[in-house]
Amino acid sequence: MRRWLRWDMLPLPFNLVSRHLVVSSLPSLPPAPLPSRREAHLWYIVPNELEDASLLQDYRELLSPCEKENVLSIKGEALKKCAILSRVLVRTTLSRYTDCKVNPRLFKFRKNRFGKPEVEHQNGGLWVPPSLQFNISHTSSMIACGVTVDVPIGIDIEEKRRKPVNNLLSLAHRYFSPYEVQYLASFMDPENRQSEFLRLWTLKEAYVKALGRGFSGAPFRDFTIRFEKSTDSVVPERPKSEEFRIMIDTASDSENLTANWQFALVELSGSHLAAICMEKDENMPGTEQEFLKLKVWKTLPFVEDKCMSETDAVINISGLS
Ligand SMILES: *[C@@H]1O[C@H](CO)[C@@H](O)[C@H](O)[C@H]1NC(C)=O
Ligand SMILES: *[C@@H]1O[C@H](CO)[C@@H](O)[C@H](O)[C@H]1NC(C)=O
Ligand SMILES: *[C@@H]1O[C@H](CO)[C@@H](O)[C@H](O)[C@H]1NC(C)=O
Repeated sequence: MRRWLRWDMLPLPFNLVSRHLVVSSLPSLPPAPLPSRREAHLWYIVPNELEDASLLQDYRELLSPCEKENVLSIKGEALKKCAILSRVLVRTTLSRYTDCKVNPRLFKFRKNRFGKPEVEHQNGGLWVPPSLQFNISHTSSMIACGVTVDVPIGIDIEEKRRKPVNNLLSLAHRYFSPYEVQYLASFMDPENRQSEFLRLWTLKEAYVKALGRGFSGAPFRDFTIRFEKSTDSVVPERPKSEEFRIMIDTASDSENLTANWQFALVELSGSHLAAICMEKDENMPGTEQEFLKLKVWKTLPFVEDKCMSETDAVINISGLS
């Protein structure tokens, strides 16, 4: 299985404290209303908040036999826990959008030609499930699942705080388009340059993941993410440093790369950057297309869900309406 490119992944200490709680069976999940056509929903888990080994055990029981086998073969408790949580996050999140008619355990997945998982709906019965699309991203300290209806979605999360990278521009030369390299080179302060690098990186990953063609089908250097000043929204007496839109340019000869995508970039719980990329709604007029709606929840499935939208835990950097 190919791994997503991590330019610097910092492992965190494993912190599973068994409290020996006995959870005999999991309660039901609260359902969630479906996202509208222009909306993406994001659910995230903070792995360190799960300290209950028996809950993790219950979570494992939600996995398919094949997923269980994969998870058991993973070396290292922290990685194993993260793998279980990722799959549980996908299964429980999808279940919520079926009004919990589909048990998290019963979801089946197939892979597209390039390996991106999709929900495989079981036929039969009168009830037609919504056409849910999803994608997952994780760091050692957060796992996030994005959901849309009908349109493909790609998400990426990255930890904001990282060790300074010395050769940032040469790294950029390898993965970024000439325009992007030039953009980064215009930041003299190393900290600013690195934070811009991370923004671009997160957005680029989200785009490639939304396309779902794999990394070789959408090489990072063949498209450009640009921040464009949005002139119409600036209040002169209260200038905001971040009034911009996120644009994508693709080389005209690249058959694989399309440009009908919209992006949002947010900061999550002060510690992470999250980029969401979803297909544009062709029926929307001009600039409205550039913005998307986002709802965000933090969850520990079956234990607690918290809506984080409109709290300090979700800070709009760009792209939200
Ligand atoms: C997210 O998208 C990427 C690229 O399309 C894919 O490889 C990955 O498996 C997806 N993950 C999930 C859980 O959907
Ligand atoms: C398009 O994607 C396919 C498979 O992902 C790849 O083999 C092909 O070379 C790509 N074409 C271009 C022009 O990049
Ligand atoms: C998000 O930020 C962009 C500018 O970066 C701004 O145009 C937009 O109105 C903001 N949206 C919200 C919901 O704050």
